[in-house]
Amino acid sequence: MLKDVNLPVRTERLALRRATVNDAEAVRAYKQHPDVSMWIPSDGTDPDDFRRRFCDPAKLAGTLVIEHESVVIGDVKIGIVDGWAQDEVSEHARGTEAELGWCLAPNAQGRGFAREAMREVLRLCFVDLELRRVTAECYADNEPSWRLMERLGMRRESHTVRDSLHRTLGWLDGMGYALLAGEWEARTQ
Ligand SMILES: CC(C)(COP(=O)(O)OP(=O)(O)OC[C@H]1O[C@@H](n2cnc3c(N)ncnc32)[C@H](O)[C@@H]1OP(=O)(O)O)[C@@H](O)C(=O)NCCC(=O)NCCS
Repeated sequence: MLKDVNLPVRTERLALRRATVNDAEAVRAYKQHPDVSMWIPSDGTDPDDFRRRFCDPAKLAGTLVIEHESVVIGDVKIGIVDGWAQDEVSEHARGTEAELGWCLAPNAQGRGFAREAMREVLRLCFVDLELRRVTAECYADNEPSWRLMERLGMRRESHTVRDSLHRTLGWLDGMGYALLAGEWEARTQ
């Protein structure tokens, strides 16, 4: 479980720590920027609604914030889920995968911070949490997000067609990527 992992962790330029209720406003400040809200589930315009969602204990438990020079510049979602399995073997698939999500403040983008943070998150998933697979999804039009997945070595597993409803653009295509523990190990050797 993520609650058992040793945090914060540091990279060359960043620190990743557990999100707390005190981070709600800092995170909302960048999530309501149009370049960010364009691609994420909630646009953060209603402060009370944002705070209620952000502070939900189950959601908070799966959220890390990314700090650069002690300022919150982004956040990462790590949702631990079951792998698909037939009934007789389902207990072996329980809690073996993570669904990842990410977001950087606009002024922190284009500096390699997402890649630096997510490389550490992959290590945390495969080494600390001993997961067997991580996945991530985005709109196909969100090229910065799927390009990040590719920079991390994730494999494109799906390109779905007009299955994902966007608040202003209507039904859009989706992209799904994944990485197995063995694939990650082969890349890091
Ligand atoms: C998706 C997102 C996190 C990607 O952020 P990003 O800054 O593009 O990704 P990286 O940290 O990997 O940075 C890569 C860029 O930094 C540049 N860069 C500059 N300095 C660098 C360094 N020291 N190391 C590595 N890259 C560096 C790279 O050249 C690259 O630029 P390019 O895209 O012009 O080629 C960001 O676009 C975002 O938060 N978007 C809004 C929210 C969102 O879409 N979330 C996902 C929903 S599914």
